[in-house]
Amino acid sequence: MAKTKSHFVCQSCGQQSPRWVGRCTDCGEWNSFVEEAETRRAPGAPRTLARPVSLNEISTQHDDRVPIGISEMDRVLGGGLVPGSVTLIGGDPGIGKSTLLLQIAGLLGSREAPTLYVSGEESLRQIKLRADRLGVEAPGLTLLAENALEHILAIVSDVRPAALIIDSVQTVYTESIHSAPGSVSQVREAAGLLTAMAKKENISLFLIGHVTKDGSIAGPRVLEHMVDTVLYFEGDRGHAYRILRTIKNRFGSTQEVGVFQMKENGLAEVANPSEIFLAERPADVAGSAVVASQEGTRPILVEIQALVCPVEFGVPRRMTTGVDKNRVNLLVAVLEKRAGTPLSSQDIFVNVVGGMTLSEPAADLGILCAVVSNYRGRPIDAKTLLFGEVGLGGEVRAVTRPQARLREGAKLGFQRCIVPQRCCEEIEPDGLEVVGVASVDDLIEILFV
Ligand code: TYD
Ligand code: MG
Repeated sequence: MAKTKSHFVCQSCGQQSPRWVGRCTDCGEWNSFVEEAETRRAPGAPRTLARPVSLNEISTQHDDRVPIGISEMDRVLGGGLVPGSVTLIGGDPGIGKSTLLLQIAGLLGSREAPTLYVSGEESLRQIKLRADRLGVEAPGLTLLAENALEHILAIVSDVRPAALIIDSVQTVYTESIHSAPGSVSQVREAAGLLTAMAKKENISLFLIGHVTKDGSIAGPRVLEHMVDTVLYFEGDRGHAYRILRTIKNRFGSTQEVGVFQMKENGLAEVANPSEIFLAERPADVAGSAVVASQEGTRPILVEIQALVCPVEFGVPRRMTTGVDKNRVNLLVAVLEKRAGTPLSSQDIFVNVVGGMTLSEPAADLGILCAVVSNYRGRPIDAKTLLFGEVGLGGEVRAVTRPQARLREGAKLGFQRCIVPQRCCEEIEPDGLEVVGVASVDDLIEILFV
């Protein structure tokens, strides 16, 4: 008997390999490769072939946006929903994907637009109970509990909804492929057929995708290239705050964030995130610094905390949440070499308060100051705000949009702002005392000497 051909696929990013490998060369994930049988596609309907069209003849009308009515959601989408677009929403199980999408379905379905919510995970009764809890009452909203893709597509072409929600894309399977539901080929095929349907019928499609650490189901990353917009939930289930971040957007800016709070009756939008991120800040504690981070189109102020303690034995530990560990290691090395702060025999822990993740180099000054402040036991004045990138030479480098960051600080009652020297020329003080620093030495001189 002829053996079926097979290959190995990374469940996290979809990278393929003829042999099993322990670590993915593309995304770096360990143990994520699984064997998949080569699939033979069932012959589909003949495709109509595309023709070239003159640029002037193409209408851009379909780009009119429809605000969903949850302003933090509209923000991450780039100012509202583009009808006929495909949005992928990823996140850990239990973070609030189904909750948010049911709220969105409720809002869309309470208007003229017929909305179809397909769940492959929960029964209709479970969804109804959640809808009651969320206060969703939408005459235009229909629910379907189904996993079979062919059946879902048949229902969609029958119901012709304006918006379609698939919860989750990993539970949907097609019979034309032999691999198990949740495998890379199933997830890709399902998303591909649903996307094609959405584009053809001008349906706004939302795909929910679970992220799992163990790689037992294919991660949403394998779908990122197929969809228009990719949003990921950040934050952890133990905290009330959830951050929805735009990773990709064909219709708007990326790196935009929406901030939500998980409440009894669903996700509530947080209009002024800086305020809530700073609400519980302890006064006069060494190791706390506030930075102004630019997230998409708005600045958000967040507190960075550091704890530095002598190593008991062995190699010093460096642990971080919300900032890149390598970045912290780099900043610690700069402190050692350029500012004479001996940290090689210290454990260092750095945490961003509120579940936010900072990837912007402008947070460097905050990380660095929190570490020095805790190491020296010298609190940073509570009304001082910081931002700036630190280079390997110990120089403080300019960052984008300093004025917007400063303004947010002024709004929240900060009195002094430490900024890169180069930014000083282009900003109006806005009622704050603006202090420019050119190097890490300058900074330490101002804050700790
Ligand atoms: P859910 O949307 O089911 O997560 P996901 O679809 O991403 O797996 O969210 C589940 C969590 O949210 C669960 O821990 C309960 C909590 N929750 C609330 O706190 N309030 C609510 O109104 C709802 C619906 C859920
Ligand atoms: Mg869910």
